[in-house]
Amino acid sequence: MKVLNIGSLNIDYVYTVDHMVREGETLASSQLESFCGGKGLNQSIALSRAGVKVYHVGLVGEDGEMLLEACRSNGIDTTYLKQVEGKSGHAIIQVDKDAQNSILLYAGSNRKFTKEYIDEVLKDFQKGDMLLLQNEINLVDYIVELAYQKGLTIVLNPSPYNEYMEQIDMSKISIFLVNEVEAAQIAGADNPNDVLPLMKEKYPDAMVILTLGDKGSIYQYKDEIIKQDAIKVKVVDTTAAGDTFTGYFLAGIIENRPVEEILKESAKAAAIAVSRKGAAVSIPYKNELNN
Ligand code: RIB
Repeated sequence: MKVLNIGSLNIDYVYTVDHMVREGETLASSQLESFCGGKGLNQSIALSRAGVKVYHVGLVGEDGEMLLEACRSNGIDTTYLKQVEGKSGHAIIQVDKDAQNSILLYAGSNRKFTKEYIDEVLKDFQKGDMLLLQNEINLVDYIVELAYQKGLTIVLNPSPYNEYMEQIDMSKISIFLVNEVEAAQIAGADNPNDVLPLMKEKYPDAMVILTLGDKGSIYQYKDEIIKQDAIKVKVVDTTAAGDTFTGYFLAGIIENRPVEEILKESAKAAAIAVSRKGAAVSIPYKNELNN
């Protein structure tokens, strides 16, 4: 089975601030750092650091050498990555004194996917291969349709959730990795308690992993529900915690390990990620999980 992630790569500009800048306010930041990020790249790095060989498909701009290098140095297969004209995607991230963040995205090359490029990539993948998607690139709907026709197992982290996700035929998704807001949108739930029952009713064959931040995570597959608490650590920066969880969770599923063990390992990996600054750079290697 091959694992393919078609997703974003961003340069993250991280500003350390006292509080999030307010409407009309001019605020001085105390530090600026730049890191590799993007939900797609972060999740590929998490998969790779968890021990899975992953093909990352994505587009970087003329300024994207650091993103390509991040893929290469993390052992990600770059066969299908392309460099295109213009700027790479970037994110302006404020991290405040309580370690909360806010993110402003510029899609750049992440929204330059063409159907021809997708067709060319997917012809090398077949039934049983796994495809991971997020919502920071264009043509996600087209990718889902084509991948489903080819019999790929489709994993969706519909983040950041927006109206574009309404175009996706969610019945074609095998594994959802969702937070409460995303799950409520997909399930059409008004009450958080209804989210999991409604997901099961609408998508009875799908596995759902509901991530709840510092309240942990819940796995649901058919009638089985397993809960995992978050692991308490001193939080420095929550950026990429969800991406780390996603990569480690999928790695465990690919290795066919018991779900309790996978959830615990994913929670540990996410806890390490929040205890460090930055996105991709904060994601732990598997051997760090035992310390
Ligand atoms: O999930 C974290 C990521 O979201 C950041 O790395 C940033 O690039 C945004 O895409």
